[in-house]
Amino acid sequence: MDHFQLRDGVLHAEDVPLPRVAEEVGTPLYVYSRATLVRHARVFRDALSELKDPHIAFAVKSNPNLAVLRVLANEGYGADVVSGGELTRALKAGMKPEDIVFSGVGKTHAELQHGIEAGIGQFNIESEEEGYELAAIARRFGVKAACALRVNPDVDARTHEKISTGKRENKFGVPLDRAAEIYTGLASEDGLDMRGIAVHIGSQLADLEPLETAFGKVGALIAELREGGCSVTHADLGGGLGVPYKAGEELPAPAEYGKMVARVTKDWDVRLMFEPGRVIAGNAGVLLTKVIRVKRGIERPFVVVDAAMNDLARPAMYGAWHDFDAVEPTGEKTVAHIVGPICETGDTFAMDRECDVLGAGDLAVFRTAGAYGATMASSYNSRGFVAEVLVDGYKFAVVADRIAAGAIMDAEQVPDWLQD
Ligand code: LLP
Repeated sequence: MDHFQLRDGVLHAEDVPLPRVAEEVGTPLYVYSRATLVRHARVFRDALSELKDPHIAFAVKSNPNLAVLRVLANEGYGADVVSGGELTRALKAGMKPEDIVFSGVGKTHAELQHGIEAGIGQFNIESEEEGYELAAIARRFGVKAACALRVNPDVDARTHEKISTGKRENKFGVPLDRAAEIYTGLASEDGLDMRGIAVHIGSQLADLEPLETAFGKVGALIAELREGGCSVTHADLGGGLGVPYKAGEELPAPAEYGKMVARVTKDWDVRLMFEPGRVIAGNAGVLLTKVIRVKRGIERPFVVVDAAMNDLARPAMYGAWHDFDAVEPTGEKTVAHIVGPICETGDTFAMDRECDVLGAGDLAVFRTAGAYGATMASSYNSRGFVAEVLVDGYKFAVVADRIAAGAIMDAEQVPDWLQD
């Protein structure tokens, strides 16, 4: 459930009519609902209530806006970060260092050191090379870095291939059949406190079975490690739970996920950790856009909106579906192609989409844009970066300014030797 609903024929975010936000801030514009973020954070936590003291780290990559992170920090969430930039954001938003987990296959030396200096709670090591590098840094600082070893369980998550991370050919984690050997080697390093196993097989998972298979493999590995004399006190089960992108679509609910996790892990005797992103933020945001004009097409009209693939990349990158609704629907429906202004055919949000009848100047939203929306924006075609707004009841605030194309240009220079 989200808080983007029609009231007297006008789409609202919580108690705020979207035309008011568009009027004050302009379009295109991401609009987030605090109540929805809080609700999702609590639903996910409640789903894990059978577990003892689970650690929940929001996947910052899904929505790194500082205000969004602060809402989740206030809900007791930690952060799963994958870069120095995300680490800085999580700390700035008020997440406690000990609640921060650092994932990612290409952490640089500087980023590993940044994590050590910040005193983060856990590094999820993705290779033995990274582990030994981290050990050397930690030794230099005279600390022991708490670590989990990320394994690649070779499980097909049955999601889009570009967001599937747990197959053997994917770059993530270490192969399961070498995991015990690598873990044992790293555990003997002074600078490391090897304390657990991490796994994340992909995103937008519509089916719990691949997760269950992967978790089963992690359970067997934990038993094997303990038999070999290693200590394992933590297991990070990643994120990945999918969300409905189409009205009426059914996906496994967090509660079903929680039950499965409780069943599969009941004998593990570890602290479980989670890294949800989309399930928390996805339906807590919309991309608000204005129709520039409706162009007559050969078979169907093109609804040309002022948002484009640079603002919301998912349809162009993954062929993803986002529901598209008028802010003030008349009840009349049509079938149209929904496109942005960018000069490539990939800048198409939907083909042959049944949607509300819209005309030039009308407002509409792409729904479920709170995760992997603004964060994946670019300035392609010299478009600026889109603004972001957070709504809370009757009030709203701009939580990210629009960055105009001119401001981006200000960071460019023509060298002297070209200026003759
Ligand atoms: N943990 C790790 C190690 C991850 O790589 C990810 C996502 C997550 C947690 C959070 O996954 P979630 O709960 O959000 O599914 N840009 C793509 C999604 C990329 C996901 C990358 N990793 C999209 O727009 O669909």
